Amino acid sequence: MRPYVYLAAAATIDGRIASATGFSRLSCPHDLRRLHALRASVDAVIVGANTAIVDNPRLTVRYVEGRNPIRVLIDGALRAPPNLRIFDTSAPTLVFTTMRASPEKIEELRSRGVEVHVVDGESVDPANVLQTLYKRGVRKVLLEGGGKTNWEFLKRCLVDEIILTITPYVFGNGVSLIDGEGYSTTEEAPFSLSLISIKLCECGREVVLTYKINCKQ
Ligand SMILES: NC(=O)c1ccc[n+]([C@@H]2O[C@H](COP(=O)([O-])OP(=O)(O)OC[C@H]3O[C@@H](n4cnc5c(N)ncnc54)[C@H](OP(=O)(O)O)[C@@H]3O)[C@@H](O)[C@H]2O)c1
Repeated sequence: MRPYVYLAAAATIDGRIASATGFSRLSCPHDLRRLHALRASVDAVIVGANTAIVDNPRLTVRYVEGRNPIRVLIDGALRAPPNLRIFDTSAPTLVFTTMRASPEKIEELRSRGVEVHVVDGESVDPANVLQTLYKRGVRKVLLEGGGKTNWEFLKRCLVDEIILTITPYVFGNGVSLIDGEGYSTTEEAPFSLSLISIKLCECGREVVLTYKINCKQ
């Protein structure tokens, strides 16, 4: 058993969620409120190491009324510095890391109240992350990127819905919404996508697309 997983992001029309220099402020205030409402509706929010380091997000609910989800960081080498906002006391934080992490860093985070899970091997299995969260009572998860982490979940068909805001910009380079080894044809992915809804944002400049993911087996 695993929680239901939403993947949400704002992208440029060329499918980038960040520029080559890490700029990623794409959402209008309406879109930010939608994101925060989604955060308030889930039990946990997951990000990868680069997103935590580059964006330094709080991952809390601020633009709408609501409860903060548990924050989950996947950081194989534990590169995230302990002074990041994700480690503040505004919500519980769980970290999944590997034997590549320095024991001192693990101890420092634990001494700050962060729950650190160290798994065997070079990388963290996203299915195990979801299983661990499910055992703690987490039933809905929001995956908030970045591209590499999105790929790690999606390629294993561990995403149920994608909520994608298309914003009226072009980067021409940078981080893709789903950023990994890739597929060479439209048939190769272990899933298909069904479009569920198209919504024009209140700002009149952004479009919110919702897709359901159908796993092939
Ligand atoms: N526009 C938006 O909505 C939006 C949303 C989120 C993020 N972003 C942008 O996305 C960019 C970051 O994306 P990104 O693709 O570079 O990185 P990312 O997905 O945030 O982080 C990737 C890193 O996380 C660690 N990681 C992820 N999955 C792992 C696993 N299964 N096992 C072990 N480690 C794992 C790895 O660190 P190691 O390589 O050290 O092992 C990996 O390199 C940022 O610039 C951010 O601004 C934009």
